[in-house]
Amino acid sequence: MASNPLNPAGDIPETGIPGGRSAEMTMAEQHEWHRDYLRRHPVSRRNILRGAAAAAAVAAVGTSPFGKRAYAEEAQLAVGGRHVGFGPDSTSQLRFAAQLSRQPAGTKVFLDHGPTPALGATVEAEVRNLLTQLPTSDGGVLAAEQFYAHAPVDGLPGRVPHFYRWRTADGFTGDIRAAATAMPTARAAIVPFRFTMMGDQGTDETPALPSGVVPGDYDDKYYKADNEPNAPHATNVLRQIAAARPDFHILAGDIAYADPSGAGKPAQFVAHGGKLPDGFDKFNPYVWDVYFGAIEASAAQTPWMFATGNHDMEATYGALGYGGHAARLDFPGNGPAGCPSAYSFTYGNVAVLSLDANDVSYEIRANTGYSGGAQTSWVERTLAAYRADPGIDFLVCFFHHCAYSTTDAHAS
Ligand SMILES: [Fe+2]
Repeated sequence: MASNPLNPAGDIPETGIPGGRSAEMTMAEQHEWHRDYLRRHPVSRRNILRGAAAAAAVAAVGTSPFGKRAYAEEAQLAVGGRHVGFGPDSTSQLRFAAQLSRQPAGTKVFLDHGPTPALGATVEAEVRNLLTQLPTSDGGVLAAEQFYAHAPVDGLPGRVPHFYRWRTADGFTGDIRAAATAMPTARAAIVPFRFTMMGDQGTDETPALPSGVVPGDYDDKYYKADNEPNAPHATNVLRQIAAARPDFHILAGDIAYADPSGAGKPAQFVAHGGKLPDGFDKFNPYVWDVYFGAIEASAAQTPWMFATGNHDMEATYGALGYGGHAARLDFPGNGPAGCPSAYSFTYGNVAVLSLDANDVSYEIRANTGYSGGAQTSWVERTLAAYRADPGIDFLVCFFHHCAYSTTDAHAS
């Protein structure tokens, strides 16, 4: 292997490509490898990990935002893991999202919303189906299916709480929360506000699936130095964010860590007590379930805005590895074409740019150069436009990698 691999060990999620070969593969090459593998190992929908088998696994171990039996096909359809974001016009648009506990099977999902807790308006949610198929060490496929509900609401007044709840046609009714759009940029409207920023978050919760996962396999507790007896790392971070009651939160990438690469663990997933296999099946899409459950305490009422880091390039989802994020999150979509996690929004006299450092990293190069310079020229144009805007006093760019570093590690 080259001494300067395209992807240094542990710096991108391992999604089942054996033999360490992903170190020398771009995201597009890894995705093509996945497609080829799956053509040779077709999976029937019947074998997707859900239903009765999933229910048994859920009963055995772990926590989920839905409770232990919620994944089972005959269980009541539930909505959990709520997260809110700004739309492309942050001062008038909110994007409401959540996860469904199982396949809705035709059951409609609704967002009731309005200016008071009486709500009054209803939109039918779009359900995005995310299919994950990962090569496993025994030569098979771990197949998972997740369902995300999305409801955009436009035409809202600036920075006024807007109330909402999730509901399903077969009887689930969530509790009522409120979120607010951004402060308008008009000088007369500007009052003090607060935002928080964090990167490299992860979760302390142990995913319920697949069976055999134990605490420390995927959750953030594996990094013991960060943990305190009563407040593990990610929980503590989340508490600080929630306690700050920010007007919005920006997350500079490495969001859920659906695989623990970089933690110095062996690059294999084996069920607790099993012996290390010869291949690799470490990426676990169900980590996202417990992640959304964990951040809900803040993200159900505070808009969370995400950038993508190196651990967010998930090769199983499309040529850039960003297809999972497109199903799970609501990026504003007003950035350069082909760069879903690059976008901008305003809050009062502040303009915020989310940038995708994976496009310009010289250190972790799976996606380096994918925009063909489109992102960089968009950044130049967008910064110039905001600098020329008399309503904007501050520019905040957030992105994952170090722009400058005084060490020779992660000097991206
Ligand atoms: Fe990172």
